[in-house]
Amino acid sequence: MKIIGTGSYVPDLSIKNDDLSKIMDTSDEWISSRTGIKKRRISNGENTSDLASKAALQALKNAQIDAKDIDLIIVATTSPDYFVPSTACVVEEKIGAVNAISFDISAACSGFLYAINIAKNFIISNQCNNALIIGAEVLSKLVDWKDRSTCVLFGDGAGAVVVEDSKESGILDITIGSEGEKWKALKCKSCFVENPYVTNEKENEENLKIHMSGKEIFKFAVNTITNGIRNILKDTTYNIEDIKYIVPHQANLRIIEFAAKKLKIDPEKFYINLDQYGNTSGASIPIALDEMNRKGVLKKGDKIILVAFGGGLTWGCSLIEW
Ligand code: ACO
Repeated sequence: MKIIGTGSYVPDLSIKNDDLSKIMDTSDEWISSRTGIKKRRISNGENTSDLASKAALQALKNAQIDAKDIDLIIVATTSPDYFVPSTACVVEEKIGAVNAISFDISAACSGFLYAINIAKNFIISNQCNNALIIGAEVLSKLVDWKDRSTCVLFGDGAGAVVVEDSKESGILDITIGSEGEKWKALKCKSCFVENPYVTNEKENEENLKIHMSGKEIFKFAVNTITNGIRNILKDTTYNIEDIKYIVPHQANLRIIEFAAKKLKIDPEKFYINLDQYGNTSGASIPIALDEMNRKGVLKKGDKIILVAFGGGLTWGCSLIEW
């Protein structure tokens, strides 16, 4: 299975760190020095399926494939438009992919790699020939804008790839995992259990927003990147010098710098765009891939590692030949 097209879409509204310091007690100095983030895109009304559909149409155009010929749509998101239907079904309607099987998956920032793995298994088992995989988030509707330690980190956006069955190499290896015992480190409740028979006192509205234990996630992220890269290379004949780029989940520059130091590799090998978009969760890796593709930095045969970590806690790592 290989990637035959990429696309992305981010909202127009760009919010710089200095803009945030006008609405909360923070500063460009604090945000930049602790995270590397300079600005992020924030939805001015568009929902996750809107962003996802726009990224998807670009990916289809890049892949030169008609929406009607797509067999499978998977949207990786933690910020769906609805509980029912899935965002993927809404995207199916918006882009006219009338022949697709469509569903969402929830694996937070690792969601895009989970979706690639699922699509690979659909293709290997001959259930489909191709798939449209989208990571899309409107996290601005889920962050607690009163919690300066989390709201400054996130942004809205969507990225998409089209994959198809291929004898050429493409996705050489992929591995995913989860550590459910750490689920409390990053959470956002969907809704409260309320019905005519429940007499419990109403829960705090703040529980319906994202809460994160920054330090725990930081440690998990550094270990995940280092172990993911070491382990995926162990199974191959390649070593780190053969890898042209590492595309990490774009959460925090310090996480990436720590991982590079632990791995003793040049931080320049990591593709970074978090300064522009902040942490867009499941969208961050496909947005980065599309940016690299459009800039022409990816050459046929390049070996690339994608590595992600996020709520769950979950992780994923993939070795790709472009
Ligand atoms: N502006 C100014 N000051 C702030 C801000 C802010 N935006 N946020 C917190 N502070 C203050 C705190 O109140 C605290 O003040 P105090 O010492 O007076 O109590 C001080 O800054 C230090 O706070 P810490 O939480 O100790 O800061 P830390 O250096 O740990 O950095 C951060 C926090 C950036 C969140 C860090 O822990 C981190 O990057 N963690 C990883 C988080 C992450 O990347 N999550 C996403 C990954 S998972 C996913 O993508 C879904």
